[in-house]
This record gives sequence, C-alpha cells and structure tokens, in this order.
Amino acid sequence: MRQTIVAGNWKMNASKETVNTLVVGILEGLHNVKNAKVIVCASSPYLSQVEALAVHSQLNLGAQDLNVNASGAFTGEISADMIKDFGAEYVIVGHSERRSLYGETDEIVANKVKAALDNDLTPLFCIGELLEERESGNTEAVVTRQINAVIAKVGIEAFKNIIVAYEPVWAIGTGVTATPQQAQDTHAFIRSLLAENDADIAQTTPILYGGSMNPANAEELIACEDIDGGLIGGASLKAEDFLSICKAG
Ligand code: PGA
Repeated sequence: MRQTIVAGNWKMNASKETVNTLVVGILEGLHNVKNAKVIVCASSPYLSQVEALAVHSQLNLGAQDLNVNASGAFTGEISADMIKDFGAEYVIVGHSERRSLYGETDEIVANKVKAALDNDLTPLFCIGELLEERESGNTEAVVTRQINAVIAKVGIEAFKNIIVAYEPVWAIGTGVTATPQQAQDTHAFIRSLLAENDADIAQTTPILYGGSMNPANAEELIACEDIDGGLIGGASLKAEDFLSICKAG
C-alpha cells in the first residue's frame, strides 16, 4: 500500500508576507488531512521561514533544485547540505522548467538525483513529455529515456528513496489537465518500466501526477490505481485549495 503524497511547488512565487499567510493557513487545516504526506517546496530564501513556522508540525519541507557539488565557487547555486541545514528533506529535480529553460539534460538530471540521494535528500524526480511528443505518439519513448537515464546512474534500488513525478509538460500551468485515463495509462507504463528492473520496487515507488491538478480534479486523479498523489504548482499557493487537494488523497 503506497501512501499518498501531495507536494506543493511554489516555483518563484513568494514574499515573506505570502509565505507566512500560506504556511499558517496550511498548518491550521493540516490536522484534517488524514492520509497524505504533505510537502511544500519553497524557493531557497524562504526555507528558513518555512522551517521556523512548520517546526513540530506534520508539514514537510523541500527545495526546488540543487547543485551537485558540496560547496565552492558556484555563484547563485545551492547545495544539498544547505538545503538540509534548513530542515528540508526533499528536493525537486528535473522539473520541466529546469529542463527547458536552463538546459538540464537527462544526464544533468540524473547527476542531481544522485547528489540528492548521496546526501540523504529525497528527490522528487520529474519526467514528462512535450505536447508535440504526445501528439507524435512518443510519450512512452520520452519517459522511458528519462527514467532509464536515472536508473543507469543510481540503479533501481535507489528508487526506494525516490519519488517520481509524472508531469506532462502540456498540462503544466496551462489549465489543461491530463484526463484520469491519460494519466493512469502513463503512470502504469512508468511502473511497468520500473518493474522490468525490480517488481517489488515498482510496487512501492510513489508516482505523483503534476499538471494543473486542482481541488476539482484531484480526487478523480488520485483515485487512479497508479497515481499516488500530486505535485501541485498554481493550486499550492492558496492554503484552502492546497488543503483540499491534500484531503483528496
Ligand atoms: P501546475 O504546476 O500545477 O501549476 O500546473 C505543476 C508543476 O509545475 O509542478
């Protein structure tokens, strides 16, 4: 039985004031979330603020990216140790915005997954196809390439500590959600890919859906057999909406 996981990806949306309102709001309603593990992934300047607000609560903290190096001359970057220094245990890796806007290749993403694991952070490892890749019938080929790059780097055993997030790029921030059937089909395919390497690990690896998940569609998506929760962008910025998704699990 896989636990439902709901993770908020705030992206580059925050101020001290909005973070305070959002986290206080989430904490007020969190006791009504019975099943889901809840994570918020903040921009680095706000990790400390969320850590302080969420101390002794069931709210878990994550970062949005990491550098593979431990320290040194990497201006503007953030290391796994820095992330952990603020009580965060999770880090988003390979988000489609990192892949498309900052040139992160499968190889770079695989190295980041490895760096997270080597430093006891749980990566939220993102995969997903572009619209033209779906339309040309290449969804399965794309997610196979993305998953296999990470298996080749860290091995299948490492998936005991990896959360996969399937995010069709055409559904991210567009208001167009994959239908439950489209999402379930791809999730089942991803699980079958993992099962080719290890059947037990395939059954225990959480695979979250991301892409315009909201309070209106979360329940139906999370009810699908192979969808174990969500990675939520826009709808994670309002406590009420985010909590309602958390309760859908
Ligand atoms: P969205 O973003 O929920 O706003 O579509 C999801 C994500 O990018 O992780």
